[in-house]
Amino acid sequence: MSDLQVLPDPEALAQHAASWIVEQAEASSGRFAWNLSGGSTPKRLYQLLAAPPFRERMPWSRVHVFWGDERFVPHDHPESNFRMTREAMLEHVPIPAANIHPIAGEGDPDDAAGAYEATLRRFYGADALDAARPLFDVTLLGLGDDGHTASLIPGTSALGEQRAWVTAVRGGRPEVRITMTYPVLDSSRVVAFLVAGDAKRTMLARVRSGDRSLPAGRIAPVGSLLFLADQAAAGSA
Ligand code: 6PG
Repeated sequence: MSDLQVLPDPEALAQHAASWIVEQAEASSGRFAWNLSGGSTPKRLYQLLAAPPFRERMPWSRVHVFWGDERFVPHDHPESNFRMTREAMLEHVPIPAANIHPIAGEGDPDDAAGAYEATLRRFYGADALDAARPLFDVTLLGLGDDGHTASLIPGTSALGEQRAWVTAVRGGRPEVRITMTYPVLDSSRVVAFLVAGDAKRTMLARVRSGDRSLPAGRIAPVGSLLFLADQAAAGSA
């Protein structure tokens, strides 16, 4: 069962999402493992968390941030998800550098995927995921207008990867991508899709109806599934 929360416009959606994520972090104890989405939609959310009142409420010293996917480009490249997140949020908040876990964007993509998988396993403290102990507190995901999420892109081999936690994705986009796979994304206490704009309306409706022909439609967290959308994306849902 999934929950849909609809806000009037993108700014109200970002404000609501910021309040929601802070409440999740405040309610947690110990490490708060937050798996970030890339793309453009979450940028405003990140900017809000980097300013009062949310910045002061977030327990940054125990927040750990990861990326569900990355474009395989240098971290100073305009397309880098890490760069977007660093500029919008991370360089403005007191999160310890050791709590920031970026995906490498240079060298060999398969090596970068393997290294990130090792980072996740080390953080988790075990080589097998236990449904009773999710790796992430919150996984934030976006939704592409082709139904992809993270870099689980239609027609790529990443969709069928059930063993590796992280894999390189070739052919789905002009640049190579690195993405977490379904088992890892699903190892979340909550997966929250953040979706805005009428271009996403059809895909959001199909995903919410359980259309497993879409990559985003196959996300099935061990915990709960939440859709945060603006009115344009939600339509008359
Ligand atoms: C990426 C994202 C990707 C994104 C969707 C939506 O690296 O691009 O991880 O999955 O969330 O494509 O992107 P927008 O938010 O830009 O519409």
